[in-house]
Amino acid sequence: ETVEWEAASYDMGGHDTYMHKEISEQPDAVDRVLRGRIDDRFSTVHLGGLNLDPREARTIRRIKILGCGTSYHAGLIGASLIEGMARIPADAEPASEFRYRNPVVDPDTLYIAVSQSGETYDVLAAVQELKRKGARVLGVVNVVGSAIAREADGGVYVHAGPEVCVVSTKCFTNTVVAFALLALHLGRIRDLSVTDGKRIIEGLRKLPAQIEEILKSEDEIKQIAAEYAGAQSMMFIGRVRGYPVALEASLKLKEISYIHAEAYPASELKHGPLALIEPALPTVAIVPDDDLLEKNRAALEEIKARSGRILAVAHQPQAKADHTIVVPKNEDELDPILMGIPLQLFAYHTALAMGRDIDKPRNLAKSVTVE
Ligand code: AGP
Repeated sequence: ETVEWEAASYDMGGHDTYMHKEISEQPDAVDRVLRGRIDDRFSTVHLGGLNLDPREARTIRRIKILGCGTSYHAGLIGASLIEGMARIPADAEPASEFRYRNPVVDPDTLYIAVSQSGETYDVLAAVQELKRKGARVLGVVNVVGSAIAREADGGVYVHAGPEVCVVSTKCFTNTVVAFALLALHLGRIRDLSVTDGKRIIEGLRKLPAQIEEILKSEDEIKQIAAEYAGAQSMMFIGRVRGYPVALEASLKLKEISYIHAEAYPASELKHGPLALIEPALPTVAIVPDDDLLEKNRAALEEIKARSGRILAVAHQPQAKADHTIVVPKNEDELDPILMGIPLQLFAYHTALAMGRDIDKPRNLAKSVTVE
């Protein structure tokens, strides 16, 4: 299963930057990662290159996901999707940390390497070390035929198309969707019900149109970004599913605007970072309408009580926030996919307002093929 990348994809296509083009391409990109994979009859998905038969899939006791930067963040969401749908304990770790702590490599663990380029040295070296120790390694990779894709025993191609901008946007989104497909596939082999399978499939099908809707709020996001562009530093918070979204949004802002940003689980605020909150340190809060809504609102109150400015990304306007970007609701599990998208535009317009070189941020390379 390969998708041919046309030369036209490298054209800016009327956009001023590759980043803007790639953000705008997300409805089509998500459509592509779903295409041909959904099986309505059994409420599951087919992943042709996985190379893992159902009997083997049932013997997996644990899943460890490895990646760097944005791909690591996508892996964190992937781990929670897999744990939630397939009920297999799963976690994600930066590939380089994993390599250097001499981890126990367990035959009942399935390892998954995540990479846009498929060439990131730390990820490739982790895969090679794992394979040397006899582990089974899958790849969740964008570039077809790349080194990591070749080394892995099988995997899921992300089909985001070529990503030129140094900072990853559409590939992050597609990688998370690819993980949702993998989670659904593993879940349906194990204990996920037909009803839940259907519910997730319906949610996945809604994504492209919902992303389109989010992209329509670009002007509003641009105006909000102009208000935050002068900040020295920003805090990003989220809880459980929202925390990796906060991590990724804070990385995006750092990479292209050079504004210092930190991401914390909202529940950790009172254990230290609350000391930083004051009017000059704005907070971006991920506030989905799920079982943790009240807890998230309590965090907003704590910040407001210290006169902190708040930008919320939520499913409904938040009274305690100075601004709310309202995004469409999907299934709880899939909400993180949508909540990250307005924050790509937020980082983009903040950096633009500050006159930064969006596609080529200082000190960074698109793929880090050395240690
Ligand atoms: C993304 O915005 C970053 N530039 C960077 O963190 C990147 O995600 C990381 O270097 C991993 O790259 P890969 O996905 O190609 O392996």
